[in-house]
Amino acid sequence: MSDQVVYWCGAFVPKANVRVSPDDRAFLFGDGVYDVIRAIDGRLFRGADHIDRFSRGAAALDIDAGGLDVAAVAHELLARNGLEHGQATVYMQLTRGAAPRTHAFPRPAAPPSVYLAAQAFTPRRSSLDEGIRVITVPDVRWGRCDIKSICLLPNVLAAEQAMQAGAEEALFVRDGVVLEGAHTSFCAVLADVLVTAPLSNQILPGITRRVVLELAQRLGLPVREGPILRAELSRATEAFVTGTTTDVTPVISVDGQSVGSGTPGPVTRRIQEGLAEAFTELTP
Ligand code: PDD
Repeated sequence: MSDQVVYWCGAFVPKANVRVSPDDRAFLFGDGVYDVIRAIDGRLFRGADHIDRFSRGAAALDIDAGGLDVAAVAHELLARNGLEHGQATVYMQLTRGAAPRTHAFPRPAAPPSVYLAAQAFTPRRSSLDEGIRVITVPDVRWGRCDIKSICLLPNVLAAEQAMQAGAEEALFVRDGVVLEGAHTSFCAVLADVLVTAPLSNQILPGITRRVVLELAQRLGLPVREGPILRAELSRATEAFVTGTTTDVTPVISVDGQSVGSGTPGPVTRRIQEGLAEAFTELTP
């Protein structure tokens, strides 16, 4: 979108006018955090949860956003870009700013670089309806996967590997345990229990994951936050991935092996319906 208006370091400007310094620590080191929020008819879905995660990530990296009001900027961007109706995403990124290259933080601190952009979003209907194939890959990521860092190289390489294998997502496996996808959380139905990895430094605390757990509880579905072994996936009757841009997407095969019947199952469908309802119940 050539006339897209974005937020860059304190001002609303045409995207084409943004100039990022080659000294920006995001460019040099991947030194920053990001988040993505779904917007429906101008309202942020679980906006407070995303903003809280973004703020905690910034605090963990000791980057001061300097009084940034994410919700106000996000709403302004939706309005300025004509996205008050229909579906959109808001991307936000905070970096340690531009400073001469040193590994340790710049002294004195540089002003942070703040970028937010809103754009129209179309859910992938065919994936949601028919499900996706996924592969598993060794988890070579760092020890703080709970921080939504912009350092996404392992995720990028895993997603590319999936693409080349004719799959749509890669699941990270560490010590035989399936943790999450390259850009999604992962759930499986094992012996009629909905299982997903417990929160830890090894996964991102997915907001959609949290919504799914709330929905499952409301629907009376048995849930366990515990390890899912790669070896037990052959016994899973259903599986799905969740995320802000993925919603609840059924997984129909893992590494070429069908999950259950090889078609989206009833638990997945109920959770999908629950999420769709949660979207329509959004309050301003
Ligand atoms: N990805 N795990 C990882 C590694 C992720 O990158 C994401 C989100 C999730 C799902 O989290 P949530 O439900 O809060 O979106 C889990 C975003 C959408 C992205 O990178 O674009």
